[in-house]
Amino acid sequence: MNWNTNLYDQKHDFVSKYGEEVVKLLDPKTGEDILDLGCGTGDLAEMISASGANIRGIDSSPEMIETARKKYPHIVFEVKSADDFSFERKFDAVFSNAALHWVLDKEKAIGCIFNSLKTGGRFVAEFGGKGNVANILNALKNALNKRGLTESAGKNIWYFPSLSEYSSLLETSGFRVVFATHFDRKTLLSDNKGIRNWVRMFGEPYLQGLKNNLAEEVLEDVEKQVAPTNYKNDNWYADYVRLRVAAVKV
Ligand code: BEZ
Repeated sequence: MNWNTNLYDQKHDFVSKYGEEVVKLLDPKTGEDILDLGCGTGDLAEMISASGANIRGIDSSPEMIETARKKYPHIVFEVKSADDFSFERKFDAVFSNAALHWVLDKEKAIGCIFNSLKTGGRFVAEFGGKGNVANILNALKNALNKRGLTESAGKNIWYFPSLSEYSSLLETSGFRVVFATHFDRKTLLSDNKGIRNWVRMFGEPYLQGLKNNLAEEVLEDVEKQVAPTNYKNDNWYADYVRLRVAAVKV
């Protein structure tokens, strides 16, 4: 997936704004070594760094890392995948916001996180939980299937687990789950092309290979389907559902 990091920062800045609550849960302390997993363009790594912690950011997207390095040259950012990373040193905490729903090999990701923590170290994360963007995703698959685009419709690019599923995976890997919550967060999309732009930005793999007019037709169909649920008082909303967890390596 190629990211347009300008569009990401301008139109989807709610991603890091909501992440501020997750930083509060992390409660970073001066001198702690913390890894930001799926750091995007680095805004939350910067916020964690401001607390006095030593932060390092990784992301699988070279475009995100390039932008993060330009914005925050005092922080070390590296291109690494969430399901295939290791470091010589161990961290006091691993933090992740709005990234782990992109990682389909969740067992491998949890293994990498566990191995990179000190004993007693914490893992604090938020990402899409079960039911996340269900209206948008169902409408998109429906619009693609209707047009015979069954291969595109059949793609599964996101992982949205339930609270019990993800907590069990963490426990199986040796974590003690100390906090977990699964909640709705209807999210305002700040322009009048809200749903279309959201799908273009985040659901790009579903539109891959489609001619522009066919992609537009699909997006118009999605918009029509979700308008009754996702359009209110002249605003578009994404039907986000979040899973927020904190766990300790025992
Ligand atoms: C999310 O933050 O929930 C999300 C973002 C992009 C794609 C899918 C989910």
